[in-house]
Amino acid sequence: MRIAVLASGNGSNFEAIADFFQREHVPAEIAFVFSDKKNAFVLKRAEKFAIPTFHFSPKDFANKAAYEAALLTLFQQEKIDLIVLAGYMRIIGGTLLSAFPKKIINIHPSLLPAFPGLHGIKDAYDYGVKVTGVTIHYIDAGVDTGPIIAQVPVCIAPEDSLESLEMKIHQAEHRLYPKVLKEIALSQEIDLGNHWH
Ligand code: GRF
Repeated sequence: MRIAVLASGNGSNFEAIADFFQREHVPAEIAFVFSDKKNAFVLKRAEKFAIPTFHFSPKDFANKAAYEAALLTLFQQEKIDLIVLAGYMRIIGGTLLSAFPKKIINIHPSLLPAFPGLHGIKDAYDYGVKVTGVTIHYIDAGVDTGPIIAQVPVCIAPEDSLESLEMKIHQAEHRLYPKVLKEIALSQEIDLGNHWH
């Protein structure tokens, strides 16, 4: 199974996945990392793993459909089976959704459907919930609304600050995402419906 990771920023989830794939037997490889931001730190992390990188910006295109068509061409050229969003800060549009139904997954730092959107950790912290967590889900046309694949809870202790909660959430993400990808890759091994091969 060939995976494309899409990320806009730091890339700690990408690194956790790449690291796990080096240590464990996973019948999948990260074919490349794509970023819509030229200076995203994730691109530096990918270089460290000798994983190819691509970047271009929606600003280079007439509209979102044209940007996504360019991405789609890249995915087809690279024979990508699964698209993994890891801090990719854009909404996936119809062009990619219809080309990759149930083949685009995302990680979100809350227990969806609670606290969707850009500030899942802070919103949960400010609300005062005692348990939040991490969700991995398929992408659909909504924001953080697609079918849920996996979740883990993270408790918010009375002494937690927003910063300590962020650390706990990221640790939970880094444990969960690689394991879920491994499970998907293992189940794809026997999926004869794989659409490229
Ligand atoms: C993560 O918290 C993820 O849940 C959210 O964006 C953040 C990305 O972090 N979608 P990183 O770039 O992987 O460090």
